[in-house]
Amino acid sequence: MNQTKQEEYAVNMASRMETIHSDIRGPIFIEANRMAAEGILVLKLNTGNPGAFGFKMPKSVREVLMSSLERAVPYCDVKGMPEARRSICDYQLRRGFQHISPEDIFIGNGVSEIASMLATAMFDPGDEVLIPSPSYSLWTNVTIIAGAKPVLYTCDEQSNWYPDLDDMRSKLTPRTKAILLINPNNPTGAVYPDEIQLEIIKMAREHHLAIISDEIYDRLVMDGMRHTSVAALDPELPVVTTNGLSKSHIICGFRCGWMCISGPDSFKKTVAGTVHKLAAMRLCGNALTQLVIPAALADEDSTRAMLVPGGRLYDQREATCAALEKIPGISFVKNHAAFYLFPKIDTEMYNITDDRQFAMDVLHGTGVLFVPGSGFDWPKPDHFRLVMLPHPQTLTKAMEDIGRFLETYRQK
Ligand SMILES: Cc1ncc(COP(=O)(O)O)c(C=O)c1O
Repeated sequence: MNQTKQEEYAVNMASRMETIHSDIRGPIFIEANRMAAEGILVLKLNTGNPGAFGFKMPKSVREVLMSSLERAVPYCDVKGMPEARRSICDYQLRRGFQHISPEDIFIGNGVSEIASMLATAMFDPGDEVLIPSPSYSLWTNVTIIAGAKPVLYTCDEQSNWYPDLDDMRSKLTPRTKAILLINPNNPTGAVYPDEIQLEIIKMAREHHLAIISDEIYDRLVMDGMRHTSVAALDPELPVVTTNGLSKSHIICGFRCGWMCISGPDSFKKTVAGTVHKLAAMRLCGNALTQLVIPAALADEDSTRAMLVPGGRLYDQREATCAALEKIPGISFVKNHAAFYLFPKIDTEMYNITDDRQFAMDVLHGTGVLFVPGSGFDWPKPDHFRLVMLPHPQTLTKAMEDIGRFLETYRQK
């Protein structure tokens, strides 16, 4: 086809896709892959994918998986296998939920698919959704795709990265439909105290808002901290809680997530009825992973073992923090959950005005790949996210390499 003909056949993509971004696997990641293909050693600290760093799925999961293959052959229940939904319901009840039944649970292909179904089911064009900044970009993206507007509220680094309630209040408008919490948080690793969540509940009640709470890291909490589900603090509030096994049971690739709808019966019925239409469109979630849910949720020990001294997640965090502390101009709030750290860099000291460029420069200078703060809807160029999944020695060396690189680095 000649040039003119090609132009005649140009098909424009949906304009709403222009703001969709996933910097975790964006241009800097693509550059890292190019470097790796050329034989350059690259350490990828961009994705929270434990299986890629030698973490193994627990024996409890492996055994059920191997003996269940045949049972996973047919399409299963649109909402998820009854046995799996029962075990999720029991799990959420153990976590303090009330008045829920397996009918209030939907199982999907990861929290990613669940978030997408929920946003499509719940948001209309013109709706506003309060979303944390910084935050994992999934939720901003699904909100935009649904035609609604993400309105960012600040999480305050000076207050352990807890949501800034005044900022949240100032962002409420008559169009606000829901508040999103990511607790424990990605990228900060913060675990929210009950007092903060109770204030957010008060706000939601005053303004008749629903809360969506992404709690995929609720089992990955360290340092004697306790995670409380917002739905457990107020069983009568309209809440949709999302969770999954990707991280706690090292099965990211299996795609296993769920939502639990709690609150007034009318809310549960409306959300479930609408989500059901979307769930039916994709027939069912991955059946194989659903067969392991009961065994996984009964096995809390394998997750806990990673989070105490001598456990990989604990030791990797300690190694990262100890090495990072020595770098001039870098400060951070230590995470108490998950395996992410969101350090701050002194932009004046290093003359940084563009955090994507900074991440690219570090990649070229050291071979270490991380995600710039703007990839988490953070408005200033002064943060970046580290994934602390490699072994402690590898992380220590990577932080030392970054420190050495910064000795002479000035962006302009
Ligand atoms: C906060 C948060 N929610 C959801 C997800 C997606 O998880 P899943 O593998 O269940 O799709 C992630 C993955 O990193 C995450 O960090």
